[in-house]
Amino acid sequence: MLRFALVGCGRISRRHAELLGNGEIARAKLVAVCDIIGDKARQVASRFGVPMFTDMHQMMRDVEIDVVVILTESGRHAAHACALAPYGKHIVVEKPMALTLDDADSMIRACDIAGIKLFVVKQNRFNVPVVQLRMALERGRFGKLVMGTVRVRWSRDQAYYDQDPWRGTWSLDGGVLANQASHHVDLLEWMMGDVESVFAMATTALVDIESEDTAVVALRFRNGALGVIEATTAVRPRDLEGSITVLGEGGSVEIGGFAVNQLKHWQFVTQQPGDEEVVAKYSVNPPSVYGFGHQAYYEHVVDCILNRRTQLVDGLQGRKSLELISAIYESIETGREVQLRFSPRHCKLGAPK
Ligand SMILES: NC(=O)c1ccc[n+]([C@@H]2O[C@H](COP(=O)([O-])OP(=O)(O)OC[C@H]3O[C@@H](n4cnc5c(N)ncnc54)[C@H](O)[C@@H]3O)[C@@H](O)[C@H]2O)c1
Repeated sequence: MLRFALVGCGRISRRHAELLGNGEIARAKLVAVCDIIGDKARQVASRFGVPMFTDMHQMMRDVEIDVVVILTESGRHAAHACALAPYGKHIVVEKPMALTLDDADSMIRACDIAGIKLFVVKQNRFNVPVVQLRMALERGRFGKLVMGTVRVRWSRDQAYYDQDPWRGTWSLDGGVLANQASHHVDLLEWMMGDVESVFAMATTALVDIESEDTAVVALRFRNGALGVIEATTAVRPRDLEGSITVLGEGGSVEIGGFAVNQLKHWQFVTQQPGDEEVVAKYSVNPPSVYGFGHQAYYEHVVDCILNRRTQLVDGLQGRKSLELISAIYESIETGREVQLRFSPRHCKLGAPK
């Protein structure tokens, strides 16, 4: 049984606490929670009958823990991961792993030195239709890839950004690209392969925040395929979709719904037995934008730790996705096409105030 502790008891902690605290993950349980705001920690702690702390170091010293889960503001993940790594307990960190490549590197280094695993939460990779798409790609069913598109058309109004001072700031959050669409950027690169260059434009359309709420990105992949990212939180009055489309000479697949969870098209030039079943089985839509992936994600974490399985999203994978997001921001700032690999010079994401 692996003992998990949470650092940060804000919005996303509910999802983590419910899974770990209600015994929904085999061989995992919640043993402690921490938030610098005592009331937030108390609420989660009393609901799941575990001790609460307002100091993460105290928690690490007082409780027997195997895995610590960092659910704090994005721009603080690195400081928290580097402070926690020396305790020698595995670390799960919410997406995005950090906001700067230097921060991502220090997290990877700190975990390597401590001899622990670093997991970055990318739960959408575990959505059932996404797994089917990935399997079709691995079997070569798309042949030559032509184009990959992701769309995030969600609604976040001023009240959403105003609820916490870190939201929409360059130093702690970034905009729709670094926050909401970071899952979709990760999925696009996972499906289409390494990116050669990006060209991006962004605007802050409907809210008053430092960063962007709307962006478009054109990508060129190393394999010659092209890509499009369309990301906005300025849809009104409510969420429309979170989707990925992969087009290849051998077929086309679109997964939509609100959270890349509903199979819309599954068409291949060469049909295979089971294709109809895939459509029938995986055309479900989730009730929340977080999707169902956190459960499968945690099962994967437990499996990796207990059975020494290869991690799907470790620190290096998380860094790779952050490098792409940073290149996109660099293009927005410079108005130029940005080649990867690159070192950011103008990117505002993660820059101190
Ligand atoms: N995977 C997903 O789909 C998903 C969804 C939502 C949020 N997230 C990510 O989760 C992270 C948190 O988001 P949120 O919406 O829950 O934010 P939030 O502001 O609601 O919660 C963050 C909490 O961390 C606490 N905190 C800060 N420093 C701390 C410290 N040193 N020790 C203990 N607690 C501390 C804050 O007091 C706050 O309660 C962000 O990085 C966000 O991008 C991921």
